[in-house]
Amino acid sequence: MSKPSEPDIERILFTEEQVQARIREVAAEISERYRGRDLKLIAVLKGSVFFLTALAREIEVPVKIDFLGISSFSNQRGAPGVVRIAKDLDESIEGEDVLLVEDIVDTGFTARYLLHTLAGRGPNSLGICTLLDRTSRRIVQVPVEFRCFEIPDHFVVGCGLDYKQLYRNLGFIAVINPGQ
Ligand code: IMP
Ligand code: MG
Repeated sequence: MSKPSEPDIERILFTEEQVQARIREVAAEISERYRGRDLKLIAVLKGSVFFLTALAREIEVPVKIDFLGISSFSNQRGAPGVVRIAKDLDESIEGEDVLLVEDIVDTGFTARYLLHTLAGRGPNSLGICTLLDRTSRRIVQVPVEFRCFEIPDHFVVGCGLDYKQLYRNLGFIAVINPGQ
C-alpha cells in the first residue's frame, strides 16, 4: 500500500473502498432490523457527521437526522471524561426509533452519557451504531448494536476523526504518528 503524502500518517488501517464496503454492509443490517419503521439517526458533532451521511445514503428505510454537540472535559485521551450537551437536538425523539451514530466508542464514557440522556426522553427504541470500536480501552460498558470495525489501540484519523481538528476529511482510516 503506498504511503499518502500527509507527513503524519503512519499507516492506513482501512482504505476508502474498505470503509465504503463495510458501511454498505452495516446499512443493510440496519435496514433489515428497522424494516417497516422510520429511523432517526443522531450524530454527535463533529466527528460522526461524515459517517452519518455515508450511512444514511445506504439505509433503505425512511431516515430522519438530528445532531448533538457535546463538550468533553477530559484533557488527556484516556482520562475519564465529563461530558455535557453543548448543542441539543432540534426535535423531540419521543416514541421514535433512534440510533446514536458515533465515530468511535473508546472508553465508553461519551456513549454511556448520551445513551442515558436520550433514554430519558422516551424513544421507542435506542441503539448505538459506531464506525470504530476500540473495546481494548473500554472503561464503562455500553451496548454497541452495530459497528463497522474493531480497531487496535492506536490513535486514528480520517472519516470524521480528527487530530487537532485536522484530517477529518480523509476518506480512509489511518494511524498517525504522534511523535511528529
Ligand atoms: P470515549 O468517551 O472515550 O468513548 O471517547 C470517544 C471520543 O473520543 C470520540 O468521539 C472521539 O472524539 C475521541 N477519540 C477517541 N479515540 C480517538 C482516536 O483514535 N482518534 C480521534 N478521536 C478519538
Ligand atoms: Mg467524537
